[in-house]
This record gives sequence, C-alpha cells and structure tokens, in this order.
Amino acid sequence: MNFTVIGLGYVGLVNAVILAVYRHDVIAYDTNKEKIALLKQGVATIEEPHLQELLSQVKDDIRFTSNASDAIRTNGYIVICVDTPAGKNGAPDMSHFYAALDAIAENASMDTMVVIRSTVPVGTNAATKVYLESKSPHKFDIISAPEFLSQGRAIYDVLNPARIVVGVRSEKARELTKRVLHGYIERKFKLFITTPENAELIKYASNGFLATKISYVNTLARLCDLVGGDIDDVAKGMALDPRIGPDFLKAGVGYGGSCFPKDTSGLCWISGSNSVPMKIIKAAMEVNESQIAYFLGKIYRRFRSLSGLKVAVLGLAYKAGTEDVRNSPAFPIIKALHERNAYVIAYDPLAIDNFHDVMARFTKIRYVDYPKDALKDADFAIILTDAEEFRKLTAKDFIGAMHSPVVFDGRNIYDLKDMQGVEYYSIGRPSVKPS
Ligand code: UGA
Repeated sequence: MNFTVIGLGYVGLVNAVILAVYRHDVIAYDTNKEKIALLKQGVATIEEPHLQELLSQVKDDIRFTSNASDAIRTNGYIVICVDTPAGKNGAPDMSHFYAALDAIAENASMDTMVVIRSTVPVGTNAATKVYLESKSPHKFDIISAPEFLSQGRAIYDVLNPARIVVGVRSEKARELTKRVLHGYIERKFKLFITTPENAELIKYASNGFLATKISYVNTLARLCDLVGGDIDDVAKGMALDPRIGPDFLKAGVGYGGSCFPKDTSGLCWISGSNSVPMKIIKAAMEVNESQIAYFLGKIYRRFRSLSGLKVAVLGLAYKAGTEDVRNSPAFPIIKALHERNAYVIAYDPLAIDNFHDVMARFTKIRYVDYPKDALKDADFAIILTDAEEFRKLTAKDFIGAMHSPVVFDGRNIYDLKDMQGVEYYSIGRPSVKPS
C-alpha cells in the first residue's frame, strides 16, 4: 500500500521506516528542510537503536519530501505523527496538528483515510473529519491509532507492541486496520479495536497511570528515607503481586521527557474542561515537580556551600538511551548548582550536543568524553540516568578518580553493598558512609 507519513520526529520517522520494512511504499513529509536533506542522504536524524541500519536498508523505498503537495496529492492513506506539545494551561498545543490538516485539505485529490498517531485530546478524531470536509471537496475517514513506543527502544516497541489500540468508526476503516496489521495479527500481538474516543483516551490514561505509579513510588521513597526503609525492596515486594507488576516502580529524580509531563497536564486539562477534576494526576504532577527539590535537598544538607566545588554530573538526557533532553531533570539541577557557584563537569553518552544547545549561556559547565573524565578530582558526583556506562562504574572508580568520593545517585543504580568506601546517597534507601 502507499502511505504518506506527516511529521518525522521519533514517532513519524520510526513509523515511516517500519512501514517501508513491511514493504509499503512510503512518502515521508516534514516541513523541516534540513531534516529532509539529511534523511534523503540516508542519515537518521534521531538516535534510536537499529534505526540507522533499517533506514539504510529501506531509504530507496521512502520518498522524503518537504513539499506538501508532493506528499499528499497522490496518496489516499495519510498517517499524522506531528508533535502536540504542552500549550497554554496544560492544553495540548495543536498548531502542528492543524497545520497538517490544512496541508491535507489543500492537497488531497481523492477520498482519503487519515490515521492519527499523534497524542490528541478526546474528540479530535470527530473534529478532524468535520474540519477536513469543511475545507475539501473529498470525503475523509479517520482512524485513531495512538503510538505507545518508548524512546530508546522505539524500533523494538513498534515491532513488538505490548498492545495495538485502534479507534474506528466505519467498517472500511476496521477492514483497513486488519489488512495493514495482518502481520501483527498473525503473530498474535494484542489488537484492540474500539471507538476513536476510547482510543484517544487510552493514550492519555496510560501515560497518566504510569506517571502516577512513578510519583507514588517516589513518595514512598521519601517515607523510606524517614523510617529507614529501602524503596527498592519495598517496590520488589509490591511487584511480586501480579496485580501490581514490576514496571514503572523505580524511584528516582522523577519523570521527564516529551510525553509524561505534557500528557499528565493534557489529561488534567481534558478532564477539567469536562468538569471532572483529575485530582490524582494533579497530585502525581506535584510530587514529580517537587522530587528534584527533594533530591537537591540531600546535596544541600551535605554541603553547606557549593561555591567553587567541582561537581561531576553523569546523565543529561531525560533518561538513558536517548539524546532527547526535553524536560530533563539535569536542567533544574545544573541551574541550581550554577546559582550556587559550583563548577559542573558533565557527561552523557548521547545528549551532550542537545544539552549544550540549550545551556550555551551557562559558563561554569564543561563537557567531557568519558564518565571518568567527569569524575576526575570532583568534590561530588550526581547520577541522573541509568546509562549502562554508569552502571559499570564501581566504588573503586569513584574512590580512585574523585577528590572526595561523595555520590548522589538520582536513579538508585548501585547496590548499597557495592558502594563500600564511597559516601553514597540515593533515593529512599539508607545512605552509605565510609567507615
Ligand atoms: C512514554 C511511554 O512509556 C510510552 O509508552 C509512550 O508511547 C510515550 O511516553 C509517548 O507518549 O510517546 P518515554 O517518555 O519515551 O515513553 O519514556 P519512559 O521510558 O516511559 O520514561 C519516562 C520517564 O519516566 C523518564 O524520565 C524515566 O526516567 C522515568 N521513569 C520511568 C522513572 O522515573 N521510573 C520508572 O520506573 C520508569
């Protein structure tokens, strides 16, 4: 089949490549001309495991373009993957989405099936049909197929989805869904076909629930700190109950990224506008916002003044395995260190360039190529992602490289027993003090 994918960020580029892997003809459209130029040369514009190799394999089966008419005129199946970042009052900013609809309405030359993969408020599917048909002489059928991929494992998630949720209104859309997904259906992946409204809500509800799980465990971690508990063991004990499960129970500096922060505020906005205040999600957001101050509090209690201290910061992305720094806890933490006149030596396996772009005006920060270069002569270290490279560091590495081996671990990545000889503070676990 022939598909046009609109918006080539994490969701769109990965979807375009996987559609081509599944032998569909793909036109991939984005308004960013620089991005299109790189993609035409077969260069992946985002870091995702296996993306570059798959793109190299299928690049001749994908036509990359920044020309809307070129992208839309000849295809009756259009997949919208543009971002919907948080806008005013937490409402999703739908400007890219409506720009995509305008491009479709202006250029469609036939009745068209539009698949919405972007995260959009309930009612968008219905509104899309009305909008397009008010601006175009053609008929539009709209499918809501929210994307559930996680960055850092996007290709794996798209090829092995935990579930596929699709919202349709017409029999034609249901049949198309089954035809396009027949490979997944044969391999017994869970496909749930429902109404567009349910599909739209399932995406927000899922992200909201996962964010709440994290804030719940982070609150318990604070309690553990006070009563001498160990949050990792508490979470492990909870996870043994299959009704609870082990995922998203890892305490830390809180969630970041382009999804949970915007989708929790989006869900609050959607429910608030329907007079159903989403108090649970509000509480999860408040906990998340205060988790960074909680973590910094541990540092301030240990060091009365940070002035002139050299601080190693390991991890600048919002999580391991991605170069994405959107809503990364590293920003407020490094800003706080900066305000207190500390000097930061930072390392991240993938995110240094992106972080530097945003923090260019911060002078007391230097970026290095290896974790051990950051640790060298540092007065203390802060760990902000659970990157494999950081997990591999041992107590000996901290003791050997640092001026004083004091470590604040915002991701609880080391076993307490392995940190003997280090002054080690983590979240919701007893601290380790050298004897
Ligand atoms: C999230 C969802 O997991 C995807 O299913 C969804 O498709 C995506 O949002 C989206 O809406 O597009 P993502 O933001 O890429 O994916 O990353 P996650 O792995 O979910 O992590 C989000 C944040 O939660 C990170 O900052 C991570 O460090 C934090 N986290 C995660 C914890 O603090 N504790 C945990 O136990 C798990």
